[in-house]
Amino acid sequence: MAKIIDGKAVSAQVKENIAKEVAQLKEKHGISIGLAVVIVGNNPASRIYVNNKKKACEAVGFESFEYALPEETTQDELLALIDKLNADDKVDGILVQLPLPKHLDEKIVIDNISPDKDVDAFHPVNVGKIMIGDYSFLPCTPAGVMELIASTGVEISGKECVVVGRSNIVGKPMSMLLLHKSGTVTICHSRTKDLAAECKRADILVAAVGVPKLIKGDMIKEGAVVIDVGMNRLEDGKLCGDVDFESCEKVASYITPVPGGVGPMTIAMLMKNTLTAAKKKIAL
Ligand code: GUN
Repeated sequence: MAKIIDGKAVSAQVKENIAKEVAQLKEKHGISIGLAVVIVGNNPASRIYVNNKKKACEAVGFESFEYALPEETTQDELLALIDKLNADDKVDGILVQLPLPKHLDEKIVIDNISPDKDVDAFHPVNVGKIMIGDYSFLPCTPAGVMELIASTGVEISGKECVVVGRSNIVGKPMSMLLLHKSGTVTICHSRTKDLAAECKRADILVAAVGVPKLIKGDMIKEGAVVIDVGMNRLEDGKLCGDVDFESCEKVASYITPVPGGVGPMTIAMLMKNTLTAAKKKIAL
């Protein structure tokens, strides 16, 4: 039976360390650190994520500035707000919650966030830096996954790592982080011919496709580390991941639950990036 990786506990530890550092920075340099969170429209899942991000700011000692804009906000209005936040010294990090309403162009919005305040690491400059292993900001979800793998004590170097999903937010940067740690990385996606065969080779499997319970116990290797980035809502309202937990926990050595696995880590890494942005500002 697999050991459960407790994302809440690991993220609490990360946030505690950040809180200590924030308190020291306040004392030594008298600075306050701020994260601007922009949400457009009424997506209920986004509302929950934004509330959790604000709570995390409070817990580590950051100021959070929420900009909740109506659904009908225009592209120009949103870009004007981003310009204002880019120029605001109180704002160290800017996060625009995705997805945006259909009439807004996410790419243009992200391109307009100053790379120095892009705590999601979505700006092309920061994406490029991830590619070459020169991290200003860590991509939050993949970085959280790396912390969870580290918490198991399992070495990545030389291991077969399979990432299921090729999104810009998770799959692609995840693969890069595993590669930087010298994993042998395979990226699977909807056109992969034999997903089960690819997964079966994995010592470390990361699922990030948004398909409920796609990965079954008979698709994974005995003793694999299984990380589930999925967060799917079933018809009965329950949350589930991309991994079929019941069958996989019988085969894996370590497995993350949903909820309580990767989710809390993403927010902890966002806090880490905001601290990094503030420290860069005062050249620490
Ligand atoms: N929507 C879902 N995940 C994320 C994330 O990590 N950052 C932002 N900005 N929006 C998201």
